Amino acid sequence: MALIDWTGLDSTFRLDGGTVRLRPPKASDYSEWAAVRAASRDFLQPWEPTWARDDLTRPAFRRRLDAWRRDLEQGLTYPFLVFSNETGALTGGITLSNVRRGVAQVGTVGYWSGVHTARRGHTLTAVKTVSRFAFRTLGLSRLEAACLPSNGGSAALLLKAGFVEEGFARAYLKINGEWRDHRLFGLISRERDQTCPD
Ligand SMILES: CC(C)(COP(=O)(O)OP(=O)(O)OC[C@H]1O[C@@H](n2cnc3c(N)ncnc32)[C@H](O)[C@@H]1OP(=O)(O)O)[C@@H](O)C(=O)NCCC(=O)NCCS
Repeated sequence: MALIDWTGLDSTFRLDGGTVRLRPPKASDYSEWAAVRAASRDFLQPWEPTWARDDLTRPAFRRRLDAWRRDLEQGLTYPFLVFSNETGALTGGITLSNVRRGVAQVGTVGYWSGVHTARRGHTLTAVKTVSRFAFRTLGLSRLEAACLPSNGGSAALLLKAGFVEEGFARAYLKINGEWRDHRLFGLISRERDQTCPD
């Protein structure tokens, strides 16, 4: 299967989304990643788990890469950085995680955009691109995503990407230091959708 080819975070692997390209992170991404995240701190922090004090340091980035690599080797997580095809610059990140096989064949999508490249459609394109990869290459048949009730932008993005709102989970994730309720969304492949006309 294709995923075997990049279980070592093969730096040549790419997903082309047209306006953006996605590839697994590598150590040499550190400076650009840290600069975009630092510039976007106030924009991102309210919607993300609390950043560790050393979050933007090179050792912390290496630990992040190591954790992704371990999960990737087990087929649990597929992390990507998102780059503009127009400028080549890093615009954000998207991760397919919590992959469960067997009778579930499901994964969770999470994403972020740098503040200076937001509202240009890059994340929407990245979500659609990762969804295609998950269904066609990995053979998953269901994707899940969640956002805070107050995160109208993220909810609108998911709906535009074809996700359907499915429910509400109490105290679902610890965001910015507090256990927060979340809106739950799902996207299922045509193959799995028994209601989808042939
Ligand atoms: C949510 C987030 C990822 C959106 O990224 P983005 O690259 O700006 O999104 P896109 O440009 O691809 O937006 C696609 C669509 O989503 C919706 N959308 C995105 N941001 C929105 C906002 N702030 N307000 C309203 N709608 C928004 C719009 O429908 C948009 O289409 P439009 O611009 O044509 O109206 C980004 O704002 C972000 O990183 N926010 C902070 C962290 C976060 O919320 N992460 C997700 C946690 S669930």
